[in-house]
Amino acid sequence: GHPLVVAVDGPSGSGKSSVSKAAARALRLAYLDTGAMYRALTWYCLDRGIDLKDAAAVENAAEELPLEQSTSPDAEFVKVGGVDVTEAIREPRISENVSAVATTLGARTELIRRQREQIEKHRNRMVVEGRDITTVVAPRAEVRLLLTASEEARLRRRGVQLGGTQSKEQLAQQVLERDKKDSTVVNFTRAADGVVTLDSSDLDFRQTVDAVLDIVHRVL
Ligand code: C5P
Repeated sequence: GHPLVVAVDGPSGSGKSSVSKAAARALRLAYLDTGAMYRALTWYCLDRGIDLKDAAAVENAAEELPLEQSTSPDAEFVKVGGVDVTEAIREPRISENVSAVATTLGARTELIRRQREQIEKHRNRMVVEGRDITTVVAPRAEVRLLLTASEEARLRRRGVQLGGTQSKEQLAQQVLERDKKDSTVVNFTRAADGVVTLDSSDLDFRQTVDAVLDIVHRVL
């Protein structure tokens, strides 16, 4: 088929992952969750006892990271050195430390290289989701989207995702703190030139997926 890279960026709790996955399924495209790569690297660093403030060590860990990741929107798995970490990388200890890893520029360079390699391997037919996909990883993607949502909507969604076990204050602390740390190296709060903003605050899941598919079909 024709090249069709759909780049989706957005803050945490914007619904990026589930929406991107559903769009990939509908469009019969491969799917890459780049956040899972930063999470897998964080898991690996913690497992190895690597000091996250040691940029050279984190960069080195990124280069040797033995990562296997599903690129099918129907079967999510992430493995590091043969260990299934699909669930472990969603734990709070990872969410709390992932920004430290993701703001290490040498580590980003390596993961960005791997992301571009994946896009190429899938012959440019892929939905790629993260924070810097529209701007850095795939600035020439056929479709570039910034998925946003109000702070209120994002906190509500993340709360539901975590099973309603966290207080409002805990959620705000976790979600907003991480976005703040991440935004020191990647800008996912404002759309770059040529990037379409889709605000999902008042849309449900199905409506958001349909809006994404409409945007894709407009450029096809
Ligand atoms: O999307 P998710 O919340 O799983 O991403 C986890 C973390 O990975 C983000 O908080 C950010 O630190 C990092 N990340 C990034 N660039 C991307 C995707 C994720 O820095 N393209």
